[in-house]
Amino acid sequence: MNDTFLKACRGQKTDYTPVWLMRQAGRYLPEYQKVRSKVDFLTLCKTPELAAEVTIQPVDILKVDVAILFSDILVPIEPMGMKLEFSESKGPILYDPIRNDIDVSRLRKIKAEDDVPFVMETIKILVKKLNVPLIGFSGAPFTLATYMIEGGSSKNFVNTKKMMFQAPELYTRLMEKITDTVINYLQAQIDAGVHAVQIFDSWAGILSPTDFEIYALPYVQKIISSLRTQTSESQTPIIYFAFNGSAMLKSVKQSGADVLGIDWRIDMADVVKILFEERGNMGETKSPLCVQGNLDPCTLFGTKDLIYERVAKILQGAKGAKGHIFNLGHGILPETPVENAIAMVEAVHELSSR
Ligand code: CP3
Repeated sequence: MNDTFLKACRGQKTDYTPVWLMRQAGRYLPEYQKVRSKVDFLTLCKTPELAAEVTIQPVDILKVDVAILFSDILVPIEPMGMKLEFSESKGPILYDPIRNDIDVSRLRKIKAEDDVPFVMETIKILVKKLNVPLIGFSGAPFTLATYMIEGGSSKNFVNTKKMMFQAPELYTRLMEKITDTVINYLQAQIDAGVHAVQIFDSWAGILSPTDFEIYALPYVQKIISSLRTQTSESQTPIIYFAFNGSAMLKSVKQSGADVLGIDWRIDMADVVKILFEERGNMGETKSPLCVQGNLDPCTLFGTKDLIYERVAKILQGAKGAKGHIFNLGHGILPETPVENAIAMVEAVHELSSR
């Protein structure tokens, strides 16, 4: 198996910088669209043979160094007791959003093996078939809470922030239930065979650094420390991606993750500076040594020369980190030309070859 990605997560020397793309299985690939034209998105997530097939597509087509399980962060919310739908026009919808005490009391903590068995089955198929490592994932509690409280995507997240500021005890109860679910869900994925996990905090960036430290970060820290105690010595690398979090990296780096995902709003060289500042005070274990990212997904609409130039700059900027996993700064967009995604992967492999 190609273990370059896992070595980079552990801060070990690699022959080149490993690369993958967030949302690498998706609508920009005609091969994905072909499978997706036959079934709706949730059915695709719940059918292990099909989910495994689309997980493998980008590994074959783009030659990335790692696969990510095909599913969605909202999948475990359904068995918690909310009706979930993916609308073609409006994106995800969660019916009867969580607003009061009764709503929170109604929510169940899931037992992943029983409640989302299709996820573990997909993982078992994939670990047999893949020649690269497999990443499992979950949404972070704050991001999942925003979907549950707002009922879908949102502009200003007023209902979420109202609950945080007006009913902090209710907010805490909700977050604790979600956190328990995430711990169980990620542990089940690790037990089923994933080689690393990523926690997506897609909406962390709507919080001020102060509120991030109070209302989001402690739950991520709890997840990471529980996985560390439950998992044996062959530690499964944990990646934490707080999208739009570059203005609060000093807080984000306290998550306890091995790798921090970085969006494109900050220069990689500056990320390295911030992460290694005050390391003595933070303690070695709390400060992640490795970075993942951070090309603007829209760079893939540029020429190959531009792609090579921007890839080179990021590789150079990340040199001071103990490990670097190349990625986009957020998910690949459906309009992206496939050949440019391939060019990006080739650029990373070529330019980082040591
Ligand atoms: O990265 C991968 O290839 C693995 C699969 C994956 C999907 N969603 C598939 C998907 C992963 C890791 C996710 C995570 C996810 N889902 C996040 C976190 C990452 C991020 O983008 O910030 C979030 C916020 C979601 C919620 C979600 N799922 C939204 C808002 C939408 C609608 C917007 C859109 O892109 O369509 C989805 C749907 C979704 N999830 C699709 C895919 C491939 C498109 C569904 C389709 O085929 O129509």
